[in-house]
Amino acid sequence: MRAITVVPHQAGSARLDDVPDPDPLMGSVLVEAVAVGVCGTDLEITSGAYGWSPPGADRLVLGHESLGRVIDPGPSSGLANGDLVVGIVRRPDAVPCPSCAVGEWDMCRNGQYTERGIKAVDGYMSERWRIEPDYAVKVDPGLGILGVLLEPTTVVAKAWEVVGSTGLRAFWEPRTALITGAGPIGLLAALLGVQRGLDVHVLDRAETGPKPELVAALGATYHTDAVGDLDIDPDIVIECTGVRSLILSSVEKVASGGVVCLTGIGSADPTPIQIPETPLANEIVLQNKVVVGSVNANRRHYYKGAEALQRADHDWLAKLITRRANPEHFADALERQPDDIKAIIEFASL
Ligand code: BGC
Repeated sequence: MRAITVVPHQAGSARLDDVPDPDPLMGSVLVEAVAVGVCGTDLEITSGAYGWSPPGADRLVLGHESLGRVIDPGPSSGLANGDLVVGIVRRPDAVPCPSCAVGEWDMCRNGQYTERGIKAVDGYMSERWRIEPDYAVKVDPGLGILGVLLEPTTVVAKAWEVVGSTGLRAFWEPRTALITGAGPIGLLAALLGVQRGLDVHVLDRAETGPKPELVAALGATYHTDAVGDLDIDPDIVIECTGVRSLILSSVEKVASGGVVCLTGIGSADPTPIQIPETPLANEIVLQNKVVVGSVNANRRHYYKGAEALQRADHDWLAKLITRRANPEHFADALERQPDDIKAIIEFASL
């Protein structure tokens, strides 16, 4: 069968490969791939900066933002042929650490977790894939192709949960949220913020293209000014770029007692770093601010993410998918275009 594979840490090694059918040891549920989303992590892997192949293999099947159709549910999954499913990305470490032992593999303490399409297990960019029943999440058929947005939505569902539980350490009635970066993670974070009834502001560099309109359609406010120049007092900042200067200015900008949640990593910083006038510790200590990181998602967040997608305006969600490529043209999907939000690779039609 066809699969998009890569040699991790070897830039330019991605190719459309012919690989054996999925090993039944990968899980009793057999799924036909419908679509796979491409995200920054995939680009990091194909650029040679990230990723691990399975033990004993040179190549890794890429892809962690899945959507597939069950073609054999196996004996015990409770799924039926034709069900639409999304595969959970992370698997707990084998030790297991306390977090993995209680099903919070997104909080893995020893780093020995694995991730499909990223870390030591083949991903979902293959015509067929297998999955363990417990890691296949059934999605509402009404979502159709939009189900491919579930995995990135789980990442922001977790980030919002982290913000909420962090805020609750003291009196907490947040009103205003700032999201930095209007890529798929930023826009989905904005969607969930609006769903929580917050006054949401989204900051991005893009002055044209679909982003300003998508933010306005949510009822949120779009900005292209520097964070420090915004005339708002956010209780929450969800930082989705990983850009160092934006992280620093978010910490400065967030209101006293507020929470800055970092979801982006490793982006090159386009602006020279400005050392803040006030020592960073003064900002954080004297104003009870919290900076917290958030990665990945556990099963609970798949449930919450699916609920958020179901509640959202499906026409709005559809506009997030700005490009579709067939597996033969996977390289196009792996190349960022100026007005891209989410590119997907389509393996089969619905
Ligand atoms: C994925 C997460 C994963 C993270 C780090 C992200 O792109 O959505 O599931 O944990 O990369 O590998």
